[in-house]
Amino acid sequence: MCSSDLLVEGILLFSVVRFRQRRRDDALPKQVAGNTYLEIGWTLVPAMILAFVAVPTVRTIFDLSAAPEEAERLEVRVIAKQYWWEFEYLGDDGQGVVTAGELHIPVDRPVFLQMEALSAVVPDPGEVGVKEGAVANGVIHSFWVPRLAGKQDVVPGHVRTLTIQANEPGEYSGQCAEFCGLSHARMRFTVVAHEPQEFQAWLEAQAQPAAGTQEGLAAEGRELFETEACITCHAIRGYQTADGQEAAPIRIAPDLTHFASRERFAGASFDVTEENLKEWLDNPPAMKAGVQMPDLQLTEEQIDALTAYLLTLE
Ligand code: CUA
Repeated sequence: MCSSDLLVEGILLFSVVRFRQRRRDDALPKQVAGNTYLEIGWTLVPAMILAFVAVPTVRTIFDLSAAPEEAERLEVRVIAKQYWWEFEYLGDDGQGVVTAGELHIPVDRPVFLQMEALSAVVPDPGEVGVKEGAVANGVIHSFWVPRLAGKQDVVPGHVRTLTIQANEPGEYSGQCAEFCGLSHARMRFTVVAHEPQEFQAWLEAQAQPAAGTQEGLAAEGRELFETEACITCHAIRGYQTADGQEAAPIRIAPDLTHFASRERFAGASFDVTEENLKEWLDNPPAMKAGVQMPDLQLTEEQIDALTAYLLTLE
């Protein structure tokens, strides 16, 4: 029992004894009703306080939702899918870079996010970018990086915007904050904030086509990527098909161009390690319930080869 409890109990007991009903005391207490000045006073004063507080509050709300200056901002399109996040760097600075699960940003620069919920994105052949044919039958997700900004719902059929800015380099964990299906809890992502030059170097590296020369097991994996249907959902920029054509970047599943440069995969839920990849390829839904990637019934040899190939995609 702390001192405030004692105080409250004390006042209570005192009131019970002091103001108890006494015998032969049937009279009602003195009735007081209606004091015009008092009532006008306690209506007006709070109204004025609220009006006073509303001015800076409303102004701040508008400031926060305003898009940052075009010259200053980095623009990224965020696409919420089931159950992972895709990030597409827009504008000339963006160089068509597309990643999944990891949003890299420079520090001290506003990052203007344009967010949509789409279940699949099928761009025009030979082009990177969301084009006609994007399927908007997804569900509502919510983009949330607690250390950088509040939650923002991502709704099918709408483009929602949010500005984030990191002032310190480092990793900031993000999570989908709206229940969206079986693997909602595995719909994670990481925001990685870099010093500006470091960010630029990262972007240049990501803009490069995927590593094209593989040997041995990885070369076998590269062939399997095409013959075992991986290529019908996953884009690898610069991938040459067996007949020497560059494959169109289909964005139904995560872009794997620089897969091995990422820390985690499958909604940023598992570390990119040989062991995890093998387990994943053996049976994706066993690791992540509700995932759209099916169990492809791959043999152990095929899994080894595909894993070796994926790990060359730095
Ligand atoms: Cu997406 Cu929960």
